[in-house]
Amino acid sequence: MVDVSNLRVKRLNNASFGALISGVDVARELDAPMIKAVQGAMDEHQLIIMRGQKLTAPDLVRFSKYFGTIQQSAHKYSHKDAPDAYVLSNIVDVNGQNIGLAEAGPFWHTDGVYFETPHAYTLFYAVEIPHDGDTPLGDTQFASPTNAYDGLSEAMKQRLAPLKAIHSMTRPRSAERLGTRKRAPLTAEQLAKHPDRAHPAIRTHPNTGRKSIYVNENYTETIAGMAPEEARPLLDQLQAHCLQPQYYYRHKWQVGDVVICDNCALQHKATLDYKLPQRRMLYRTTIAGGVPF
Ligand code: SIN
Repeated sequence: MVDVSNLRVKRLNNASFGALISGVDVARELDAPMIKAVQGAMDEHQLIIMRGQKLTAPDLVRFSKYFGTIQQSAHKYSHKDAPDAYVLSNIVDVNGQNIGLAEAGPFWHTDGVYFETPHAYTLFYAVEIPHDGDTPLGDTQFASPTNAYDGLSEAMKQRLAPLKAIHSMTRPRSAERLGTRKRAPLTAEQLAKHPDRAHPAIRTHPNTGRKSIYVNENYTETIAGMAPEEARPLLDQLQAHCLQPQYYYRHKWQVGDVVICDNCALQHKATLDYKLPQRRMLYRTTIAGGVPF
């Protein structure tokens, strides 16, 4: 058991959120004080980075369960040894078949926003990271709509307070947005399971009470009561506001990184600037949250 007194939390010095945690071996069992300390750091910093970890997919699942119940959004690329872990990867097997989901998350999003109870946390573990020489590729970008909310004018906060945003799982698939990239159309089962979902446009964090702008580029179709073309300028304005440098952080991966993203507080987006033979593989787990309020 690793003693909680070994835990060190260091704020990122190049972002307004996020912290590096050292002194936790994620592959080992953690005791209650250590879990509480990591949870506290997650609440305070929104994004947690733990470097130099050596994990199997089952290890990541076991660690993830300290923070709630696993709630997957898809199963096609579940890890063979740990079905609760999802594989994100551009690697193909000997038959040319993808071994994981390639090109996940190319637009700004929060995970699982199309669920009635969207994912509270997403955990990533870096297994393979592509490079161009010494430069890592395939960064994940993060933005804090929580810090961005604090930067809104009082008039805008009041305007947004009563609004509900409508999130659609079909929006990421629109041909116009995907360009040349292809995503399989949604199955009838997926469509039935994930109808368009209304959530408050400003949500309150269940642990910290902080408010956050809860609309995103990828899934938010409109505002309840507005036609999509009427809502689009406001949605675009909010997205642009969240992406200002003071609310933004770009994570350069190292193999062995565990990153925990608080989905009630942050948005994220993948950077698709690599291709085979540059190989990228992350394991991902997602944890159930509550109904946004
Ligand atoms: C995701 O949005 O789940 C993927 C992020 C990444 O691969 O960088």
